[in-house]
Amino acid sequence: MQFFIDTANLSDIGQAQQLGVLDGVTTNPTLMAKEGISGDEAVRKHYKAICDLVTDNVSAEVISTDYEGMVREGISLADIDPKIVVKLPMTMEGIKATRYFSKQGIRTNCTLVFTAGQALMAAKAGATYVSPFIGRLEDISTDGMNLIADIRKIFDNYQFPTKILAASVRHAMHIVQCAKLGADVTTSPLAAIVGLVKHPLTDSGLKQFLEDHRKVNEKAVVII
Ligand code: E4P
Repeated sequence: MQFFIDTANLSDIGQAQQLGVLDGVTTNPTLMAKEGISGDEAVRKHYKAICDLVTDNVSAEVISTDYEGMVREGISLADIDPKIVVKLPMTMEGIKATRYFSKQGIRTNCTLVFTAGQALMAAKAGATYVSPFIGRLEDISTDGMNLIADIRKIFDNYQFPTKILAASVRHAMHIVQCAKLGADVTTSPLAAIVGLVKHPLTDSGLKQFLEDHRKVNEKAVVII
């Protein structure tokens, strides 16, 4: 299973990378705006900075909504660095553009997926990744995990090579649930990745171990 971080924040990406478990980064226009990145040159520079921090898989999203614009923009994004994956929305135009990039051997991430039918369409178009948004489904009282299970079943039925990139992941338990269901990748904020490590019993257990070690070793020093 691969771990991607869902942010355009260089410090968070650097921290996740230092853990040694990071496989990639996903961004979107909202996340780029959050970092105050605007204008074509600044955006390209920022994507390059992200690519320089990680080993591979940096999803960069197009802003265009028409096929020609998506193709033009996607080619230009892919040109920044070989680590770039062109992120395209699940629309009719986005599907056509996904097909185009697939034929060119350029990796794509089909985003804003909320149904199994949309995921099937992305796989048919040759998407490298399909991004079902779990958290946003849960925001409208819909079970996001059922969607992951349905997509897994469909992709396995036909051996689609498209990878399930579970997105809009909000916490560590989402990552665990996705792992149980066989999602290939999760993308989440740094806090959710760190949340996989944390447990209060680990903290109290370690505190106790160190105290017991210290007590005996202090006594040993007195005996000598
Ligand atoms: C995925 O690629 C998106 O950037 C992301 O996961 C959206 O998550 P959100 O619903 O927390 O904004």
